[in-house]
Amino acid sequence: MEIFYTVNELRAYTQNQKALGMVIGFVPTMGALHQGHLSLIARSKAECNLTLASIFVNPTQFNDPKDYYKYPRMTETDGQMLREHGCDILFLPSVDEMYQHLLLEISPLNIGYLDTILEGAKRPGHYQGVATIVEKLFLSVQPDKVYLGLKDFQQIKVIEKLIRDKYMPIKIVSCPTLREPNGLAMSSRNMRLSEDGKQKAGDIYQVLDFIQKHRAIDTPEIVLAKAKDMIASKDYWDLEYLELRHAQDLSEIDLKHWQEGVDYVALYAGWLEGVRLIDNLCL
Ligand code: PAF
Repeated sequence: MEIFYTVNELRAYTQNQKALGMVIGFVPTMGALHQGHLSLIARSKAECNLTLASIFVNPTQFNDPKDYYKYPRMTETDGQMLREHGCDILFLPSVDEMYQHLLLEISPLNIGYLDTILEGAKRPGHYQGVATIVEKLFLSVQPDKVYLGLKDFQQIKVIEKLIRDKYMPIKIVSCPTLREPNGLAMSSRNMRLSEDGKQKAGDIYQVLDFIQKHRAIDTPEIVLAKAKDMIASKDYWDLEYLELRHAQDLSEIDLKHWQEGVDYVALYAGWLEGVRLIDNLCL
């Protein structure tokens, strides 16, 4: 596996590869890799000629600076995992390389209403930071396909909007969330939970699964109320939101009725042991 540290070297390399007809698959990450990331690498390897991963803990997407400093950094182990799983190229830029002197004067991108709902509402500035770094990474890597985990459902919508707005010739491949045996979605944040916390965090999947199974039985309003009661009965949860939305564009739904042929998604965010966890399930 070759490692690039600078945008210029990486761009020259990927431009060459594209001229040779190589299809480039890209897995952007912030490191602290787990099986979920490795499944994205495997999918890219199956569908592309060249698989490139990036590790960059992006300061502009942390609305709480403490979270940025606490974010696990384990580049050695991550690099080893990527090598063992056949990743061809690792892009490992520094903060200076990605932002230079511009860290404090980022031009806002148009994220629209996605910036004001759910994660956008709870984490002001988060999606501006994500869109900013993702645009820079896409311009550096010039991928044909980008592999993203569905666990960050809203993030995928933001990135899809970015590539539409900027006419980028990139295909987004949304990949299923990998789960622990108790249903807990794999995430780098899980490392900060105790063993007991990891068990308790399985509640999220139970609630989402309950909603999915009850779609055929009760109205959205009733299913949602029962699901919220399930969480309220566990005093260790601090729920931020549990919502039902249209899966297509995350717009609000009519809570009185389910509509035939419409795809819905249930989205969850809550705090457990001081760790903020999110998950979702398409219904
Ligand atoms: O999902 C992530 O790990 C990050 O938000 C991303 C897409 C790598 C941008 O920093």
